[in-house]
Amino acid sequence: MSKKTIRAVDALQEAQKIAFAPFVFQTSVTLKNLGVLDYIFDSKCAVSQSEICEALSISEYGLSVLLEIAESSEIVTKDEDEKYELSKIGYFLNYHKMTEVNLNFTQDVCYQGLFHLEDTIKTGKPQGLKELGDWSTIYEGLSQLPPHIQKSWFDFDHFYSDEIFVDALNIIFKSSPKTIFDIGGNTGKFAIQCCEFNNDIQVKIYDLPGQLKKALANAEAKGHGDRVSGEEIDWLSENPKVQEGADIIWMSQFLDCFSKEEILKILSTSVKAMNADTELIIIETYTDRQKFGNAKFILEATSLYFTALANGNSKMYKATELIDLADKAGLTIKEDISLGEYHTMFICKKK
Ligand SMILES: C[S@@+](CC[C@H](N)C(=O)[O-])C[C@H]1O[C@@H](n2cnc3c(N)ncnc32)[C@H](O)[C@@H]1O
Repeated sequence: MSKKTIRAVDALQEAQKIAFAPFVFQTSVTLKNLGVLDYIFDSKCAVSQSEICEALSISEYGLSVLLEIAESSEIVTKDEDEKYELSKIGYFLNYHKMTEVNLNFTQDVCYQGLFHLEDTIKTGKPQGLKELGDWSTIYEGLSQLPPHIQKSWFDFDHFYSDEIFVDALNIIFKSSPKTIFDIGGNTGKFAIQCCEFNNDIQVKIYDLPGQLKKALANAEAKGHGDRVSGEEIDWLSENPKVQEGADIIWMSQFLDCFSKEEILKILSTSVKAMNADTELIIIETYTDRQKFGNAKFILEATSLYFTALANGNSKMYKATELIDLADKAGLTIKEDISLGEYHTMFICKKK
């Protein structure tokens, strides 16, 4: 492995960025929420601090502390007349959809819980979850989270799955399935899209009670109540069961919510419900299948959300780890397809 060389003075600067990372993060959130980034960008030309203060009713003192660190963090630039413009980093922080979803997820869902990371690692329990509610995993409480936290959680979840659903539907309907089991159907989004894609498909959602209730209500509201059914399941219970009869068992961004041992249990249980023609489809974002460094970084951060807040024992996996677990559970991967920018789809059959 090649060692990167870095001058001591630069390394020291990088170390300060980490030591004060929460300060820069909270400054970004505050500048965004107060409308400062919008105002600077919309002004088209550089603007002075006092102009921003007046337009947005922020004190000179308040804005000065924010803009000083924002300039050092290259979120804004200041010219020789002491006027500010948005940098490229500031632009992405304010207007790039993925960055917005990540920022809101960090602030609303994770920020306070991450304080308990060390305890989580020591105990193997998601000690940060108590900042959101009194549950043993976040999934038990998803349907009860306060609306703005719930919105940030779902925006994050949906951002990383919505874009591949259309591509995925075109692939999975090639085998003319009649029945799909959506394991971890969440809000019913995928089930609804299946019904809109094909007039005959029947979808059964398997999820925890609170989430299942919401998913079925959403499907009903979209006029698909007759084709979307559901069954409550807790995969962490003693003896979870899936009915036989599915043409496709669909698991999208679901297995990353569990430890390796639990994934093996889920896949082995599902294999028992499969016949020779059933396809079990796994969609995940794998750390070893990313083209860009920033995508790998996002997945590594997401793992820490699972650690400190979600359940204390799951993560974003490497494709090689899932391939190994599928094999142990009695599955062969018939097709290995890259979907969109981040996702991989495994189409598996029973061995
Ligand atoms: C990350 S979401 C996946 C959402 C959706 N499949 C997608 O692609 O966007 C994980 C889902 O798994 C469900 N889940 C988590 N733990 C579970 C458990 N122990 N038993 C049953 N479902 C569970 C959650 O309620 C949630 O709907």
